[in-house]
Amino acid sequence: MNHVRIAIDGPAGAGKSTVARTVAKRLGILYVDTGAMYRGVAWLAQTYGVSPSDEAGLVAMLREHPLTCGRSEHDTVDILADGRVITQELRSPAVSGMVSELSAHPAVRDILTALQRDFSRHESVVMDGRDIGTVVMPDADVKIFLTADLDERARRRLSEMEGQGFCVDYQELRATMAERDARDASRPVAPLRQAPDAIVVDSTGKSVEDVADEILSIARQVL
Ligand code: C5P
Repeated sequence: MNHVRIAIDGPAGAGKSTVARTVAKRLGILYVDTGAMYRGVAWLAQTYGVSPSDEAGLVAMLREHPLTCGRSEHDTVDILADGRVITQELRSPAVSGMVSELSAHPAVRDILTALQRDFSRHESVVMDGRDIGTVVMPDADVKIFLTADLDERARRRLSEMEGQGFCVDYQELRATMAERDARDASRPVAPLRQAPDAIVVDSTGKSVEDVADEILSIARQVL
């Protein structure tokens, strides 16, 4: 296959990671979860006691403890901090609660955007996040904006978190997701936004396989 880049953006819990992973697997190409990278910065900040509001402190922390990315055997990207894989730690409520604030800093975004572009430069990828079609890969071959009803997004995230052993309240989770989306959409730099040339896919009431099929059929029309 030629060099193919598929960008999937959208709000929290729209099913981006599961769908993007499935699409990448079906095409036999790499899946890059950029949210995990921002979560990795949040995990480091929590570990080293750096405030999510302290842009210079976060940059200094990343210089001393750089986040690195390793390719897992399943053609996905593992996030490593201080030399160990931290994928499991990234979904905690504490990380989710601070990630949006630190993601708004341009200096933090510059570091992660460069890492993300390195992946897409040389190989075919499905990459998901908030600014992939607008900033990271504005020349992507396929751009999808994946949405779903907030209640369904919150229900999906609740079952995901319960499956990982976290105890969370539905109403509280729903409110924090809405708050995170509002924060992501209103920041001045690289906000959560549909690229003008993105195709909207609504995953409400649909299975992962159905949404992946929909995206693959959109992709086949342009690839
Ligand atoms: O996708 P996920 O929910 O794991 O993303 C966590 C957070 O990381 C988002 O709420 C957003 O603040 C930030 N993020 C971002 N840009 C991306 C991906 C994620 O700002 N490309």
